[in-house]
Amino acid sequence: MIKLAPSILSADFSKLGEDVKALEKYGADWVHIDVMDGMFVPNISFGIPVIKSIRNITSLTFDVHLMIEEPARFVEDFVKAGADMITIHYETDRHIDRTVNYIKSLGAKVGIALNPATPVESIKYLIPNLDMVLIMTVNPGFGGQKYINYCSEKIKELKELSNKFNKNLLIEVDGGIGKDNIKSVVECGANVIVAGSAVFKDGKIEENIKILKGDR
Ligand code: DX5
Ligand code: ZN
Repeated sequence: MIKLAPSILSADFSKLGEDVKALEKYGADWVHIDVMDGMFVPNISFGIPVIKSIRNITSLTFDVHLMIEEPARFVEDFVKAGADMITIHYETDRHIDRTVNYIKSLGAKVGIALNPATPVESIKYLIPNLDMVLIMTVNPGFGGQKYINYCSEKIKELKELSNKFNKNLLIEVDGGIGKDNIKSVVECGANVIVAGSAVFKDGKIEENIKILKGDR
């Protein structure tokens, strides 16, 4: 089963609640929540109070993508705010094995995200212990960027490692995905698709989700 995880980074924040409700109504599987600290990435988005507040209006899975330095400092707060899945970046944590176990001990699911230039091989030994790996297909920080082509190879490599070491591993892709390339990332092995601008384009959430789901 392929899951669609719209990124609310591209939502209209003046009516975020309505947009999240629309995602639920029109068949999104998860809500992808991009948290940025202005240090790891050159942008600041939103944080814990926003997540807490939308937690009250939907039962969709909250897929929280932490683009923050030393994420272990904050994961407990994100779990308390309602995160179901916490994904931390490989590049942000010197003791990532410890943080993976810490997130699990808090009762949340755990993922590791890899920047485009970070090899899949880096997390090989962690794969049996992970729920998800997120392959960034753009440099993190902004919505609406162009898909980086060499990342397709990384999705395939990860799929092979998942076949060997963890058949239940979720393979998420994030950045520059829309109707023209969604099919190809799924063919490479992705099973959770993040889409920001492609879902919120022109405010036509219903139509856009239909197109993305139909194109699989
Ligand atoms: C980028 C974020 C993405 C972003 C995707 O740093 O992690 O989730 O919102 O946006 P699109 O789908 O527009 O590339
Ligand atoms: Zn993201």
